[in-house]
Amino acid sequence: MSAPLSDASLDQLFLTARTFNAWQPKEVSDEQIRRLYELAKFGPTAANSSPMRIVFVKSQDAKQRLKPYLSESNAEKTMQAPVTAIVAIDYAFYEHLPKLFPHADARSWFVGNEALVQASGTRNGSLQGAYLLMAARALGLDCGPMSGFDQAGVDAEFFAGTQIKSNFLINIGYGDPDTNLFDRLPRLSFDEAAQIA
Ligand SMILES: Cc1cc2nc3c(=O)[nH]c(=O)nc-3n(C[C@H](O)[C@H](O)[C@H](O)COP(=O)(O)O)c2cc1C
Repeated sequence: MSAPLSDASLDQLFLTARTFNAWQPKEVSDEQIRRLYELAKFGPTAANSSPMRIVFVKSQDAKQRLKPYLSESNAEKTMQAPVTAIVAIDYAFYEHLPKLFPHADARSWFVGNEALVQASGTRNGSLQGAYLLMAARALGLDCGPMSGFDQAGVDAEFFAGTQIKSNFLINIGYGDPDTNLFDRLPRLSFDEAAQIA
């Protein structure tokens, strides 16, 4: 039994929520970061596989490790953001299925089927990244997602020796609406993007 969210909530999540390019100097606490994950983790994934892994880059030391791999246009705002989430995917996700999907031998569906591992990991890890972004908005935080970075470089720096691969980045904090906020771009209409069959 769920009721539609209020107009104010729909604004916060979708209608007036924006992608920010500059950040107010206001900290995001570790507690907020943990709360963010505790919400996002409940978004659905196939066989509950939950392949997303995240490094929340917050310290100056970690920011400096990330900096060399950012595209030029993403560097300054990422250094300024209170937190940058490296949203990644563990392509060994199926090793956790005995815990996450215990009523079936789901691990065996993936072992030796690299095409399925790649497709399922990418699909579900990307879904979880979107859940994370929307969870941040639900908690009153702003986001700036980015794919402009050297993925192989970030993987070597943060995920060496694992099967975890970076997917995209999200700057998280309190957006500065007065600096580098672009005009809202058009979206496709229902008829351009969808049909009711
Ligand atoms: C996966 C993803 C990657 C993106 N990569 C970049 C990027 O590298 N640099 C950038 O400035 N914006 C990037 N964006 C921001 C988009 O251009 C922006 O979200 C889109 O234009 C909608 O803007 P709005 O949310 O303000 O309406 C990215 C967004 C997403 C979701």
